[in-house]
Amino acid sequence: MWQKELRINPDSDEGEADEDEEEDDEEIINRVGNRDNWYKKQVEFWSTQEASINGVLTGYGDCHPADAETSNNLLDGFKKTIGIQRALDCGAGIGRVTKYILESRFEKIDLLDPTKELLAKARDFIGSDKVDKIYCTGLQDFEFEYQYDCIWVQWVLCYLTDKDIRVFLRKCSQYLRDENSLLICKENVHDDSFYVDKEDNSVIRSDKLFQEIFEEEGFCIVKHQIQPGFPDNLFTISIYALKYIKFGK
Ligand SMILES: C[S@@+](CC[C@H](N)C(=O)[O-])C[C@H]1O[C@@H](n2cnc3c(N)ncnc32)[C@H](O)[C@@H]1O
Repeated sequence: MWQKELRINPDSDEGEADEDEEEDDEEIINRVGNRDNWYKKQVEFWSTQEASINGVLTGYGDCHPADAETSNNLLDGFKKTIGIQRALDCGAGIGRVTKYILESRFEKIDLLDPTKELLAKARDFIGSDKVDKIYCTGLQDFEFEYQYDCIWVQWVLCYLTDKDIRVFLRKCSQYLRDENSLLICKENVHDDSFYVDKEDNSVIRSDKLFQEIFEEEGFCIVKHQIQPGFPDNLFTISIYALKYIKFGK
């Protein structure tokens, strides 16, 4: 059951997870709801947020320049090898990452997000005819149509269960165009165990767990960086540039 993957400790108000907790499936469903409810609450939360840079950064809009600079520098390092045909912005919101990072580098960009209120602003906000498909769906349900040179996933894996992350990674392995294509994941991390935020149904995982999942699904980390320049009271943000290592095997 997906709830067991989250290992939510029912006795903790802080949302701390307990890896030793064992519960009956039915008891867990009664307490935290079923899988559909888990994903539904995320959309309910995001549909009430302002459709702006400040809104998608939950009030930390001031962090946008540092975030964009680090992301651009990271992609600059792969400029000589990465293809330029198509990129996918996952959990795109209003398209902040597309506008400031992907738009100048790729010929076509597709956006994916389950929150229709945010996506409704995306084309105007980005202001580029390079934006092609806009998919209104959760990452857990997404079925790929195209091959991509870059798949960008920022502050989104936190919304998926471990199992759904693995399923998504397997799909990415089939839809990254070639051995130079990149999957970029940018996520908050926690030193150990889990932190579950029940306001928007998200999970902060450890760096160790992310690395285990990526490696077990056949991805190697070609660059790993910590986002500099964010306030100390925020979680550490880990940036993983990943390549699928089994191309042609
Ligand atoms: C913190 S915002 C980040 C937006 C964008 N990645 C950025 O960096 O500007 C989180 C985004 O994840 C989206 N989201 C929430 N649950 C999701 C899910 N299950 N699958 C895909 N995206 C999801 C929200 O609608 C929201 O746009």
